[in-house]
This record gives sequence, structure tokens and C-alpha cells, in this order.
Amino acid sequence: MTTRILATSPLVGSALQDLGQRCPDLTLAPFRSAEWTAALPTAEALIVMLSEPLTEADLQSAPRVRAIGTYSVGMNHLPLDCCAARGIRVINTPGVLTDATADLALAMLLSLTRRLAEGEAMARSGAWPGWAPDQLLGFGLAGKTCGILGSGPIGRAFARRVAALGMVPRFWARTDLSPVDYGNGIAPRLPLADLLPDCGVLSLHCPLTTATRGLLSAANLERLPRGAFIVNTARGGILDEAAAIRMLHAGRLGGVGLDVYDGEPAIDPAWFAAPRTVLLPHLGSATRETRAAMAQLLCDGIGATLEGKLG
Ligand code: DGY
Repeated sequence: MTTRILATSPLVGSALQDLGQRCPDLTLAPFRSAEWTAALPTAEALIVMLSEPLTEADLQSAPRVRAIGTYSVGMNHLPLDCCAARGIRVINTPGVLTDATADLALAMLLSLTRRLAEGEAMARSGAWPGWAPDQLLGFGLAGKTCGILGSGPIGRAFARRVAALGMVPRFWARTDLSPVDYGNGIAPRLPLADLLPDCGVLSLHCPLTTATRGLLSAANLERLPRGAFIVNTARGGILDEAAAIRMLHAGRLGGVGLDVYDGEPAIDPAWFAAPRTVLLPHLGSATRETRAAMAQLLCDGIGATLEGKLG
């Protein structure tokens, strides 16, 4: 039997099984396994996870591929230039994970600023000394400026959430400086050098590209006010992690919440000793509803491409 659709993992919900019925010859094989490699020559569609960096060499072994689906909105792990040159349709999952990812960023922000992990540990320790006027004092968000890197759907959804808490959203843009309508208000878009000095909080919601790799360099982090908080649910590689860790130890940053890491799933062990952090294992889109909706969107796109209904 030849493979038409080659997927590396089952997806949440029934969309992948339904796709297999609609377009027979679906093979499930772990990324880069012998079975996966053997199936490449006949595959017409590939489905990969965000943790599986597909290369141009992989595509050279897959001359019949017409569609590549990634179970993510991010596409930094795909050889996009090669796909464009070969006319391969790339299908990702925008829109359906917007709220889940913005919710998680907000959860990390509140956890950091209200010291939830420390409070939980104190309560569970059995040694809570009792309420005290200055116990585990946090950082109030109302009235503070929240810098948002990225003005796409997730950045705008995050702006709605922080605005509801009384924060003042401000966006970053590399070139476009027109104001952003984020749904419940309009916020300015500023160059990084103008945005950072006012940010009590900075949240990352931009894709990892050649333009954003290393964007939050040590020099740019130094522009933040003392005690600023950073939340990253976008991609590792945008933030200079070593510089952020140094600044946490020096008390220069108020806290850092990370859902994504440069080189994940490996996490620089220096994070484990850094104070005032929330570290999560890339859970941005991890709700049952969202992952099922992502699977549906992806499989609909693959099915439509193979049936000739799309490009
Ligand atoms: C994506 O889909 O790219 C996100 O990182 C999920 O959290």
C-alpha cells in the first residue's frame, strides 16, 4: 500500500480519522522514523507538529507532496521558501487558537504578578504563619502600560484581556506605525525603543522570523523599566534568554513567564534556578476545544487540497 497522507501523530478529536476515510491511504508514523522516511516518496500531503522541523532535504525525498499541514499557527519549523517555489500549499491553524493562547498568557501574567506559585507553596507547606500585612506582596496591573509585540489576532486578544484589567495596551511594529483597533479600543503602535521604557509588562505575540529572532536582545531588555514583567507564549528565539536570566538574578526584571523556549523541548537549566519565573511546557493552545478545532481546520485544508478544491 502506498501512502497518500503522512501524519506524524494522532490529533485531538476525529478530524484525522475522518480525513483518512475521505482520502484513503493515510499513514501514521513518528517524525523521522524509518517508516516515515520510507513513506515520503509517495506522500501527497504531510502533517507535522510544531516540534518537527521539516527540511528542504525532506521535501526532496517527497516529490509528490502538494500540501503540508502543521498542527500549529506558527510555521517557523517549515521550509517555507521551498514550499513556495514548489507550489506546495501550507496549511496552519490561525484563528481557532487565539483565545486559548491569549488566556494562557494572561494566566502566566497573573501568576507572576500575584505570586501564585509562592503562595500555593506556602499554603501547602503546612507552615503558613498566617496573614501578614506585607506577605507575598505583588504588582498591581491597573493603570500600568502593557507592551504587546505583535498586533495579529493573539496580540489583539491579549490587549482586550489586559485592557479589561485596567492596563494600557501599546503595540510594537517594525514598520507600520498606524494605531491598532484591538476590538475594545484603539492603541498606538510604536517603535521598540519608544515602547519599552514605559512597559510594566511586555507580552510576546509575534511569529519567529529572521526579523524577530533576537528582537529582545540584552540591549533592548535594558530599555525596560526596573521590575518589568515579560511573558512569552510566542516562540523561543525572540527573547535573549541568558540576558533575561541575568536580569532576574540582578533584580532588574520583576518576573518572566515562559511557555516557549529556544531549542525546546530542552530548557536551559539556568531557568530552574532563576527567581520569579513561571515555566510551562508550550501549553498555549492546549484546550480540548482548541486542539479539536485546529485538527478540523488542518484536515479540511488537506482534504480540500487533495480533492483539488484548493490550490
Ligand atoms: C502554535 O500553534 O504555533 C502555538 O505555539 C501553540 O501554542
